[in-house]
Amino acid sequence: MQNSPEAVSNPGIDATRSRSSVTRAVGGSDLRVTPVALGCWPIAGITSLDVNDEDSLATIRACFDSGINFLDTAYCYGRDGESERLIARAIGPHRDAFVLASKAGIHWDARGERQFDASPATLRRECDESLQRLQTDRIDLYYLHAPDPKTPIAESAGVFREMRAAGKILAVGVSNVTLEQLREFHEVCPVDALQPPYNMLMREIESDLLPWCLAHRVSVIVYWPLMKGLLVGKLLRDHQFQPGDGRAKYPMFQSPEWEKNQDFLDELSRIARDLGRSVADLVTNWTIHRPGITAALCGAKRAQQIRESAAALTWRLSPAETARIDDAIRRRGRAVVRSAV
Ligand SMILES: NC(=O)c1ccc[n+]([C@@H]2O[C@H](COP(=O)([O-])OP(=O)(O)OC[C@H]3O[C@@H](n4cnc5c(N)ncnc54)[C@H](OP(=O)(O)O)[C@@H]3O)[C@@H](O)[C@H]2O)c1
Repeated sequence: MQNSPEAVSNPGIDATRSRSSVTRAVGGSDLRVTPVALGCWPIAGITSLDVNDEDSLATIRACFDSGINFLDTAYCYGRDGESERLIARAIGPHRDAFVLASKAGIHWDARGERQFDASPATLRRECDESLQRLQTDRIDLYYLHAPDPKTPIAESAGVFREMRAAGKILAVGVSNVTLEQLREFHEVCPVDALQPPYNMLMREIESDLLPWCLAHRVSVIVYWPLMKGLLVGKLLRDHQFQPGDGRAKYPMFQSPEWEKNQDFLDELSRIARDLGRSVADLVTNWTIHRPGITAALCGAKRAQQIRESAAALTWRLSPAETARIDDAIRRRGRAVVRSAV
């Protein structure tokens, strides 16, 4: 539907102007995604501040002009699926121009507490609800959001296999798993994509999950490439987090990691300035060209933010520039990390 007449009827998305970007395959599926995706957690407004529908819709629509075809959301992004609903509103009749990824297995209970439930009945119900919220007949890439301690992972995997066979989902992913859990899931239901956290300061997957995925043709689609906005370089040394800003609880944003990260960002800012690029663009560029990385999920709540990250689709760091960044990462040393789940 990319160049159909109705493609220009949705305000904000002019499909006739879409820039073609180089796309990459997702596992063994037929999906092709741009190496930069829009992460749609911030627009859920749960841990990000100053979120409103108008800016969120503009952010999603900005993807198209920026050459991005890949949107990442989840059943639990929003207390009542706000992220999935906003995506449906923003893309309107241009559904086929996007690869939509969502996730099941985490929800919010009546008290507002996060619950891990990947039992077969819940996975089936969440998939059906997400299809409705997204106003689509299939979810292109569907992940187990995280293993459920009460449900054997093989049982959850069986439901994903069943949903793929039914055509409700086209490709299967897993997130927040150990290598052992990934193997177990893969035995029951072949996995197309893994979604782990990964960025310049969080590289744990390089020792186990990444080599396994490379060897088994599983795409690695990473979250937190910008480390929740830290690696954009716009949070100044004296930044005071407002109450409700979810970042304050992570060691990266607390002393003494905070000061080390600010020294590191000074170095990244110098490199970005020398190249005439933004830090977000530089960091995203480095990430999507790491061996074995298929795509980076760059979160944003404003159109300008995703445009900055999407600029990485249009150029590539030279080996000398990459080596300069790698030196800065080495000098930063190992960071103290905490996972999302
Ligand atoms: N599978 C999982 O369990 C899991 C977990 C986490 C995330 N994810 C996925 O990965 C995506 C990325 O994670 P994330 O959104 O938490 O973090 P992120 O992409 O590392 O950072 C996004 C945040 O950085 C700031 N930012 C981005 N571009 C900017 C720019 N150009 N200028 C200034 N600030 C900028 C914005 O925060 P402010 O404007 O608020 O400063 C934005 O909300 C999520 O959206 C989600 O799709 C998955």
